[in-house]
Amino acid sequence: MALYSHFLVLYLFFVSSVICQVTEFISIDCGGTSNYTDPRTGLAWVSDNGTIMKYGKSSEAQVSNGNTQYQRRRDFPIDSNKYCYTLGTKERRRYLVRATFQYGSSENEDAYPKFDLYLDTTKWSTMVVLDASRVYVKEMIIRAPSSSIDVCICCATTGSPFISTLELRPLNLSMYATDFEDNFFLEVAARVNFGALSKDAIRYPDDPYDRIWGSDLEKRQNYLVGVAPGTVRINTSRYVDTRTREYPPVKVMQTAVVGTEGILSYRLNLEDFPANARAYAYFAEIEDLGANETRKFKLQQPFLSDYSNAVVNIAENANGSYTLYEPSYMNVSLDFVLSFSFAKTRDSTLGPLLNAIEISKYLKIEPKTDSKDVTVLNALRFLSAESAWANEQGDPCVPAHWEWVNCSSTTPPRITKIALSGKNLKGEIPPEINNMEQLTELWLDGNFLTGPIPGISNLVNLKIVHLENNKLNGPLPKYLGSLPKLQALYIQNNSFSGEIPSEFLTGKVIFNYEHNPGLHKEARKKMHLKLIVGISIGILAGLLVVVIGSLLFLRNLQRKTSHKKSEVQGNSLRASTKPSTAYSVARGWHMMDEGVSYYIPLPELEEATKNFSKKIGRGSFGTVYYGQMKDGKEVAVKIMADSSTHLTLQFVTEVALLSRIHHRNLVPLLGYCEEEHQRILVYEYMHNGTLRDHIHGPVNQKRLDWLARLQIAEDAAKDACRT
Ligand SMILES: *[C@@H]1O[C@H](CO)[C@@H](O)[C@H](O)[C@H]1NC(C)=O
Ligand SMILES: *[C@@H]1O[C@H](CO)[C@@H](O)[C@H](O)[C@H]1NC(C)=O
Ligand SMILES: *[C@@H]1O[C@H](CO)[C@@H](O)[C@H](O)[C@H]1NC(C)=O
Ligand SMILES: *[C@@H]1O[C@H](CO)[C@@H](O)[C@H](O)[C@H]1NC(C)=O
Ligand SMILES: *[C@@H]1O[C@H](CO)[C@@H](O)[C@H](O)[C@H]1NC(C)=O
Ligand SMILES: *[C@@H]1O[C@H](CO)[C@@H](O)[C@H](O)[C@H]1NC(C)=O
Ligand SMILES: *[C@@H]1O[C@H](CO)[C@@H](O)[C@H](O)[C@H]1NC(C)=O
Ligand SMILES: *[C@@H]1O[C@H](CO)[C@@H](O)[C@H](O)[C@H]1NC(C)=O
Ligand SMILES: *[C@@H]1O[C@H](CO)[C@@H](O)[C@H](O)[C@H]1NC(C)=O
Repeated sequence: MALYSHFLVLYLFFVSSVICQVTEFISIDCGGTSNYTDPRTGLAWVSDNGTIMKYGKSSEAQVSNGNTQYQRRRDFPIDSNKYCYTLGTKERRRYLVRATFQYGSSENEDAYPKFDLYLDTTKWSTMVVLDASRVYVKEMIIRAPSSSIDVCICCATTGSPFISTLELRPLNLSMYATDFEDNFFLEVAARVNFGALSKDAIRYPDDPYDRIWGSDLEKRQNYLVGVAPGTVRINTSRYVDTRTREYPPVKVMQTAVVGTEGILSYRLNLEDFPANARAYAYFAEIEDLGANETRKFKLQQPFLSDYSNAVVNIAENANGSYTLYEPSYMNVSLDFVLSFSFAKTRDSTLGPLLNAIEISKYLKIEPKTDSKDVTVLNALRFLSAESAWANEQGDPCVPAHWEWVNCSSTTPPRITKIALSGKNLKGEIPPEINNMEQLTELWLDGNFLTGPIPGISNLVNLKIVHLENNKLNGPLPKYLGSLPKLQALYIQNNSFSGEIPSEFLTGKVIFNYEHNPGLHKEARKKMHLKLIVGISIGILAGLLVVVIGSLLFLRNLQRKTSHKKSEVQGNSLRASTKPSTAYSVARGWHMMDEGVSYYIPLPELEEATKNFSKKIGRGSFGTVYYGQMKDGKEVAVKIMADSSTHLTLQFVTEVALLSRIHHRNLVPLLGYCEEEHQRILVYEYMHNGTLRDHIHGPVNQKRLDWLARLQIAEDAAKDACRT
């Protein structure tokens, strides 16, 4: 009675844990036309038609075996896209993921399919169909890296890619833990039940985790060959305790092979090897040994120094018969053809025994596309959720990139291009876009985007930006103009407002901003006004100069004739050229001081700058040197960097304009020099915060530093030059 209730408890416990497991099974019949329960296993299968998989077509696989799952398969288009099934997982929980492929006989003589299988961004396997009637099984043991995984099919080289079933089985806590699981998946290469009673594989419900334990009676090419003479199959109906780590099914442990002549050996093909592998051997003593009988053996091949010297005594190692002993080889390098053999020790009366083996390959987990980029892509998908393009599956970049993005080949991949022209996007551009540092092209034109341009100052690789034909508003951020690689910005037909950053008007960047009624060239308008005022003053001043100048000239002439001798001596150094005279003449007239500039000869500038020895900065056109004219006036002398001919016009224009424009924020131009392909401008040198600032501007006004003023002067000139 006590025994009976003990069994009942055990039975209830077993059943409840199995049921709990099963409700979490996901079994997808790819290409299936309806949902059903498999009468042989009691497992519920769902068809992937429509809800789970929108792509491809269901086609009949003419197979002779009775499994409903293999009656139909799903064929995918032959193109450059990937097709993915997304399976919900619990992060960090271990699962067995299984995809199966049975092509079935085909009427036409087309080549059998060859394509790639991916788990997330990690290449799982290249599926090669050689035998249309064989069920190809691909199993992977993973610890879920996130709340879902993608099983993707892509990259067909022959035929059209297909799939028959897809299964997800959660594993129990202790099972398949490895030290490498953060970085490696485990691709199952072989799981063999030795001494099997039939050719059928053992799986659910015998294995509550629905692993597939292949029968050693199954004959395949180069599979379980090289069997040592004297190998016999044994079985028992007694319960075997398998509650250790990996929980192999009792049924698997109830059968074994024994090398009665002292050697147990096999050879089998391991696809995708050589590789680092996790190898498990499952032993249980299922023969009743006599008092004078012992079973002791060693691993003879492959020779693994850590293991091969250890003597296996199953009953001793497992602490009893009918109990599992599972030595493991957690990181062993194995060859494509695995030969293994066990040999009995000299003092052992019985030959080696083996119940089952399991060999898995470590597969390096490849990183997914940078999550910051994916966040933005998801936000963009959300702006047009019902569109087909927004429902592309899997990772944006690997194994094949989504149609509307382009990716870098870095690890992890980054998004380099977003191409969503005319894709019916409604809403605001997601501000997280500023995290997509590798973005070079952004095409969002022809949508219904609203709101402002979000901060994109981090996108230093941006080259081409298309935002035209939207409903975007707000100002153009100033830093846009200083994005170092920007080549083209299209914003026409929007509702942008405010000032256009001056950088866009330099012609360096292709800039189209038509049909933005609120957008204006603030700086330029002011310049127009300034120009008009400047030119008027200039003309007046010019007239005055002419009048006064001629008066002075006349007076000088008179003086020169009366004091000829002394004049010649006193002025010998500098009065030899007319322009120089004009400069010194003008110095005397405060009214003219900042309105007109004069020709200054090169030697005079060389003297003033002590042969251009004191560099004080760089403008956009060239280097600026400090100098002091003979009369003590401090000057800034700028040598134009580029002396090519096309700049001549620009130079002339700049001289002309700067002489006429007088503005608080402009540095007064005093003179210029053009000699031997050298073009030089001479400005008044201003110490930061000179008296001028206090006289001319309110104290609280943001004071521009000297070089900035120089820059404004140049820009004003260039701008005006263009109009
Ligand atoms: C099959 O089951 C799935 C999930 O339970 C459901 O979404 C789908 O509509 C079902 N399909 C059919 C044909 O009943
Ligand atoms: C779903 O099944 C219907 C009818 O069986 C078929 O016409 C349709 O193409 C299938 N859809 C997919 C995506 O396989
Ligand atoms: C799952 O693991 C726990 C603890 O490791 C164990 O107690 C339990 O029996 C296992 N469940 C099954 C169904 O094997
Ligand atoms: C199981 O083992 C017994 C001997 O213990 C043998 O008679 C029987 O044929 C075996 N069954 C199979 C299917 O091999
Ligand atoms: C296994 O060992 C090799 C060196 O022997 C090491 O390079 C590798 O990272 C280890 N782990 C895996 C999972 O391959
Ligand atoms: C073991 O003991 C039995 C008797 O119990 C005997 O018949 C047998 O020969 C012994 N075997 C060996 C290997 O000593
Ligand atoms: C071995 O099993 C015996 C009972 O069969 C038990 O008393 C003993 O504690 C076990 N030893 C270990 C190390 O588990
Ligand atoms: C992605 O980049 C490749 C090479 O840089 C180019 O050939 C391809 O056209 C690009 N695709 C898209 C959608 O821009
Ligand atoms: C301006 O953009 C809208 C979409 O926002 C588009 O419908 C319209 O045709 C565009 N107008 C011009 C002149 O391109």
